[in-house]
Amino acid sequence: MEQLVINGGHSLYGEIAIGGMKNSALPVIFATLLIKDECVIYNVPLVSDIINSIEILKQMGAKAELTENHTLIINTRDVQDEIKGYELISKMRASSYLMGTMLSRAKKAYLPMPGGCNFGARPIEQHLKGFSMLGANCSCENGFISINASKLLKSTKITLDKISVGATINIVLASVFVEGVTVIENVAIEPHVDDLICFLNTAGAKILRVGRKIYCEGVKKLHSVRYRIFPDMIEALTYMTFVGACSGDINLTGVNYEHIKYVCDIFRKMGFEIDAYYDEARVKAGKNLVGASIETAPYPLFPTDLHPQFSSLLCFTKDGGEIKESIFPTRFAYAYELEKMGAKIKREDNVVKINPSNLSPASLDATDLRAGAALVCASLGTNGTSRINNVNYIVRGYENLVGKVSSLGGKIKLLKGE
Ligand code: UD1
Repeated sequence: MEQLVINGGHSLYGEIAIGGMKNSALPVIFATLLIKDECVIYNVPLVSDIINSIEILKQMGAKAELTENHTLIINTRDVQDEIKGYELISKMRASSYLMGTMLSRAKKAYLPMPGGCNFGARPIEQHLKGFSMLGANCSCENGFISINASKLLKSTKITLDKISVGATINIVLASVFVEGVTVIENVAIEPHVDDLICFLNTAGAKILRVGRKIYCEGVKKLHSVRYRIFPDMIEALTYMTFVGACSGDINLTGVNYEHIKYVCDIFRKMGFEIDAYYDEARVKAGKNLVGASIETAPYPLFPTDLHPQFSSLLCFTKDGGEIKESIFPTRFAYAYELEKMGAKIKREDNVVKINPSNLSPASLDATDLRAGAALVCASLGTNGTSRINNVNYIVRGYENLVGKVSSLGGKIKLLKGE
């Protein structure tokens, strides 16, 4: 089994490029199912979730090539109506976008329940509510989802009971060709939602988001497109936590400061110096950071996908802090791993209190993607050699982590398994 070996305690200096956002590249890739022609997509991160999504589409009949320079050339013209690639689908959350796309393209979708990072229940009833309100019949049985539109779908007003990125994206995908104007209320406004809308509009869709409301006017067809994916805000913020844990001075290129501003302001209050200009952010941190208390919430507030890394960062501050997890209330598996390093963590329901801790190196298990990133953060900031197992989780979302951290002076190696 592969293992990350990290010799921590070294400050980070230098420059790295932030890649395209995994969570918007995923729906964009599935959305190519709505365009029966060649699409060229730039800034696609080379991470396993993306490679697996492309593989699912290839198994369904798409032609696709993802190059080393992050360009995906994909043509879904010959894709069949039957969904294939069940094994991969049940391993990843974003495969749920096959529901909206195949409902649009084939008027039906039959697939296993999507998998994904295991940090508690990941329900889809809001997705199905949206499809049903458009006129589709939806059912779930024996771990499979069946969606059928026996009649023409009809535009309507759909109000989500819960702000959900996945449901927002899926209902948009299902509405693109529905005659009239579909209105979706209480939508997620994460940059990946806007990225998908931008992609679809570039291809000829008529979608407008105003605050937490989306208007989607049905069009007859979409056309071939060239499109560049937005920068990955979570990758950028994760590297900022690494600098906070280790101290140092790094420059991140290829970022969108608007997307990370809310968290950057929190980092600044903790003692980081952050200068952002155009698409770059220079980030400096010393050894004297103060703590902070935060609560995760939908964008534009603190992202749940930075919660575990932020917990690790708090261990290295003078006074620690509290994190209230309001999106995935059981997302705390990483805390047991940090405790192996001597972290002083107290958990009560969906709140963890992190006290400043003198961490020691340990052998650790990544339990999901962001938990894995949190362990990298803690290990980089801790003197001595730590080892992290289950690297497969980390490569789902961080391209060339070893190369990027090494180029900043971090001592990290990937040991290949048998
Ligand atoms: C996406 C991201 C994930 C991120 C999450 C929240 C992808 C591939 N994954 O996941 O990295 O952590 O957004 O920013 O983009 N909910 C329901 N019913 C539903 C759908 C969701 O109750 O039908 C709840 C969830 O349990 C959760 C909250 O809504 O409490 C938000 O989930 P959602 O935004 O849907 O997350 P995902 O789209 O799965």
